[in-house]
Amino acid sequence: MSKNNLTISYEEFSSIDDLNVQDKDLCNEAIKAMANSHSPYSEFRVGAAIRLESGKIVYGSNQENVAYPSGLCAERVALFTIGSTYPKDRIMSMAITAHTDNFKILEPVTSCGACLQVMAEYEKKQSHPIDVLFYCQNGSIIKTNGIKSLLPFAFAETRLRK
Ligand code: THU
Repeated sequence: MSKNNLTISYEEFSSIDDLNVQDKDLCNEAIKAMANSHSPYSEFRVGAAIRLESGKIVYGSNQENVAYPSGLCAERVALFTIGSTYPKDRIMSMAITAHTDNFKILEPVTSCGACLQVMAEYEKKQSHPIDVLFYCQNGSIIKTNGIKSLLPFAFAETRLRK
């Protein structure tokens, strides 16, 4: 038996004004993305904005369904839009934010495991790291360079081979 340690690194910013211009703009785009959230069941709105290499911004918001598991998170809505519509345009960075009228969100809302796994897939596909920003409008912003820091043990394609 061996005990191992993994170190992940991330940046934390106390205000959106501390971000570089591109990241700041992307966080504001994530707020815009929340406008189309369909979340009558959780009343929890999530917005994702993704910046492609071409400069194009792609939006996603959580889309819920009365048959609960049929809904989809904001991140995957945006990522699958890119995979199916702009497959050659590399993903440079993405920003995620959330809002609910029911309580004040005081910490960045980080993505669920399924969304992280999908991020890992597209990062592998394009062979270029994806920056991820989790933007809390009443608190700090967490930024990671690449999905490895978020999901170090992602399921990888190599496991499908002998
Ligand atoms: N949600 C997201 O959009 N992204 C995540 O990474 C986690 C959760 C959505 C799903 C559901 O519509 C609502 O937030 C509450 O779980």
